[in-house]
Amino acid sequence: MNLFYSYSSLLGRRMVKCEWNLKHYICPSLSPLKTNSRNITISAISSEPNGASISVTGADGSSSSSVCRDSSISGSMEQVMVEYVFGRKKATEVAHYVWKQVVQKGDAVVDATCGNGYDTLALLRMVADNAGRGRVYGMDVQKIALESTSSLLDQFASPDEKELVELFVMCHSQMEDIVPNDVAVRLVAFNLGYLPGGDKKLITRSETTVLALEAAKRILAPGGLISIITYVGHPGGREEFEKIEYFASGLPVESWKCCKLQLLNRPLAPILIFLFKR
Ligand SMILES: C[S@@+](CC[C@H](N)C(=O)[O-])C[C@H]1O[C@@H](n2cnc3c(N)ncnc32)[C@H](O)[C@@H]1O
Repeated sequence: MNLFYSYSSLLGRRMVKCEWNLKHYICPSLSPLKTNSRNITISAISSEPNGASISVTGADGSSSSSVCRDSSISGSMEQVMVEYVFGRKKATEVAHYVWKQVVQKGDAVVDATCGNGYDTLALLRMVADNAGRGRVYGMDVQKIALESTSSLLDQFASPDEKELVELFVMCHSQMEDIVPNDVAVRLVAFNLGYLPGGDKKLITRSETTVLALEAAKRILAPGGLISIITYVGHPGGREEFEKIEYFASGLPVESWKCCKLQLLNRPLAPILIFLFKR
């Protein structure tokens, strides 16, 4: 499938167009399962009332999951937390539920690590309204990741909804370059590590992650949330997590509420960190 896709160049923020040959990244609930790696597992893990929930797990235990077709989320936050405690919900699902407590239709949000686009799609469904308001600014350092994201949006978002998404091949430490100054950002989401099914050497790095957190802190509106899913199973992952913990611990208590969710007897499980700006 060919499509035209526009993104801003970092230098001069000039809008350019490029034609991308999109490969198949397909929701397993709708089509035969395809993946480009031997090292990931993709499985349908449950059937939600309005869509199929899928989970993508890396060899080191890193994972991402999302709901295809319709990300309407059922159940209360309390139920989700209980299900997480009993091992029936994944970290990414908990993150999506937490986002829903903060994000409203018409909001502007940032996906700082688009990857295969599941988080971007979930965010789009939270912000898109009938009046065409809402905006998702998405970024990734890998063009192939944004191709995958774009392909997922082609399949599960309407053309009008897709118009609300802007994707940039760039490092998230530069996010202030692409979010207009007058935009109040409600959520900045990080799902760190490497692209499931991609090159495991192309991972988020603690130095740029901390710079990106600083940038997120500056652009976030009061009442907004920085959400981080961090993985300690790959080289550099634990150091990155510790840097994030240090960053979060230093945020002033009068203006930030910082929280960590961690499974104690699964040392390589994803760790969730939420930084809520009062
Ligand atoms: C675990 S994946 C993200 C999963 C994704 N949110 C999803 O729903 O499929 C992490 C992504 O971060 C990207 N990444 C690595 N370093 C980055 C950076 N400095 N800025 C932005 N993205 C980066 C990787 O290319 C990879 O695609």
